[in-house]
Amino acid sequence: MHSASGSSCAKIILIGEHAVVYGQPAIALPVKAIKLTATIIVNPRKQQMIDSKFYQGPLQAAAATDFAGIADLIAALLAYFHAEQAGFTLRIVSALPPERGMGSSAATATAVVRAFYAAFDTALTQRTLLQWTARSEKAIHGNPSGLDAATTSADTPLWFTKTTPIVPIVFPTNGSLVIADTGIMGQTKEAVQAVATRRAQDPATVDAQIKAIGQAVALAKAALLADDLPALGAQLTKAQVQLRALGVSNAQLDHLIQAAMAAGALGAKLTGSGLGGCMIALADSAAQAQQIRLALQAAGAAATWQYDFSTGGH
Ligand code: MEV
Repeated sequence: MHSASGSSCAKIILIGEHAVVYGQPAIALPVKAIKLTATIIVNPRKQQMIDSKFYQGPLQAAAATDFAGIADLIAALLAYFHAEQAGFTLRIVSALPPERGMGSSAATATAVVRAFYAAFDTALTQRTLLQWTARSEKAIHGNPSGLDAATTSADTPLWFTKTTPIVPIVFPTNGSLVIADTGIMGQTKEAVQAVATRRAQDPATVDAQIKAIGQAVALAKAALLADDLPALGAQLTKAQVQLRALGVSNAQLDHLIQAAMAAGALGAKLTGSGLGGCMIALADSAAQAQQIRLALQAAGAAATWQYDFSTGGH
């Protein structure tokens, strides 16, 4: 084992969250400008230390913390490489806000797995990477679709379903997304569980809502292929209607979505699990995105970002 790093980035789900857990498709994009890096520094004193904004201290003491899912992943990686006794400091530097629908846990897992494979000079296929990240995502979120990990490790926007191969998807070269943070921690596990509970109580209604999101995703794909931003915006707004009906939006998300629409957005919705976290708004140009950003800041967004399709989010 030698010192090495792995990296990943934030993800944004354009459309399809929650329904993707039940087999519907989703479209998501890596946001390369918002990065996470995990660096393993070999430690001759044989201690195993974590240095991150999520957790700081010995690996062995992380089991009872929010870092437990990643700590379990690290222990499994060490066992896999027969290096249980190796000494190291694992430093994680992340520009992603945690629990805001940007895939922080999946991005952490992705970078950690990449760093360990690099530290042991071992080639890592995407398939193996996703098997590892599924382990920590399951521990952290209960019933993940795999979409977050697929996107935080991707190079291009993608079309994702749980059971079919991931397909890169081409985005238009004009238009922008504005991303705004409510400042409230999202609750992925609780939100996914809330939809499952609702579905157990009223399967017919919830299945119809899930199907309607799937239809909006298919129409969004057609709109992307046709470079039709107004049609894409309409599908984002349609998906938001269903996400609200599923109970995963909240007052702060609704408030920012209304502010974006009032500022001229072509469509807007929550992104990620909801119940806090971030929303996205579609703008037909970078200039309009700037206006929407200002409106979102005035409406109380804790932070905003802009993803111009022309730059692929770089
Ligand atoms: C969370 O970013 C996305 C959800 O669809 C859950 C998942 O796909 O695992 C809510």
